[in-house]
Amino acid sequence: TSSSNEQILSAYKWLEKLYHYLLRFSKDGQEGKEYIAKRGLTNETVDLFKLGYAPNEKTFTASFLKKKGFHLQLLQKAGILVNQSDGEIIDRFFGRVIFPIRNHLGITVGFGARSIDKQEPKYLNSSESSLFQKSKILYNFDLAKKYIRKENEAILFEGYMDVITAYQAGIKNVVATMGTSLTESQARLLRRYVDTVTICYDSDEAGIEATYRAARLLEQVDCHVKIAVLKNGVDPDTYIQTYGGDNFINKVLQPSETFMSFYMRYLKKDFKLQSKSDQLRYIQTVLKELANINSSIEREYYLKILASEFNFTLESLNQEIKAFLKPNK
Ligand code: CTP
Ligand code: MN
Ligand code: MN
Ligand code: MN
Ligand code: MN
Repeated sequence: TSSSNEQILSAYKWLEKLYHYLLRFSKDGQEGKEYIAKRGLTNETVDLFKLGYAPNEKTFTASFLKKKGFHLQLLQKAGILVNQSDGEIIDRFFGRVIFPIRNHLGITVGFGARSIDKQEPKYLNSSESSLFQKSKILYNFDLAKKYIRKENEAILFEGYMDVITAYQAGIKNVVATMGTSLTESQARLLRRYVDTVTICYDSDEAGIEATYRAARLLEQVDCHVKIAVLKNGVDPDTYIQTYGGDNFINKVLQPSETFMSFYMRYLKKDFKLQSKSDQLRYIQTVLKELANINSSIEREYYLKILASEFNFTLESLNQEIKAFLKPNK
């Protein structure tokens, strides 16, 4: 109900302030502070994103909230507190760095919480509810919105740290899916603000697979998709921390691929291209995809690449693609 949502929002407001204060200024937040420093974030960044630390003491948050008069059961539902088997109510995020998650209006509606030791899972998030739906929120959309508009382009990352590190490096039109699964509602949200979305997911297997799915979805809602390619499993945060924001702009964002170039490369994993029959099947699959492109000069661009790579004439590929083209093309 709306009044319980109001209480949960109010709890987030209190906890965001408290955790942030502890991280910045208190001895109880020391471990979090050290972790954040190790990740290369400045105080200014920590303040802007209101990062915090939930003390490594199981009942710290529960007793704070109780003193404030909150209904603890409600906060269990929100996923801030948990009921132990012995009936004791304890903190769910204790000993973790807190990333407040704001909706598009800038209101904190959930937390992401990262472990600072080897504790699994690496991230815990608030529970799904009418208030917090991960599938409908893009992390940092509220801050990025005006830069996204200005550039007519959004850069899409996977994670909290990718966004924060890029932002700190001055690249501000950045948002994240909070994982690898972009949803249709997130894609539509982006489309309302931009023509172009550059996907820059992690270069591990999950990230590459997800890049394809996200690109597909964005194309379906009529976004122009670009793909910024990282290598060797690196993610944007690690890249920027290692090589700096200028290199990220010049060597990763600048040479972004089109969806089609990415697809032609990505698809190769499904074929053994030393074999002639697989080459033909690969070409057929690419042609099927190419047939969806409306512009004939754009189609021709890729047909030429295919032709030269597999040693066919452009004419024969043009002949072959006809089978897949819709009548009006
Ligand atoms: N995520 C999550 N729960 C997990 C793992 C990941 O919600 N157990 C979400 C988080 O929003 C995370 C994003 O997916 O930021 C991307 O995951 P991953 O690449 O594994 O983490 P990083 O963002 O790279 O985290 P870090 O750099 O802190 O290791
Ligand atoms: Mn990842
Ligand atoms: Mn990972
Ligand atoms: Mn990552
Ligand atoms: Mn990372």
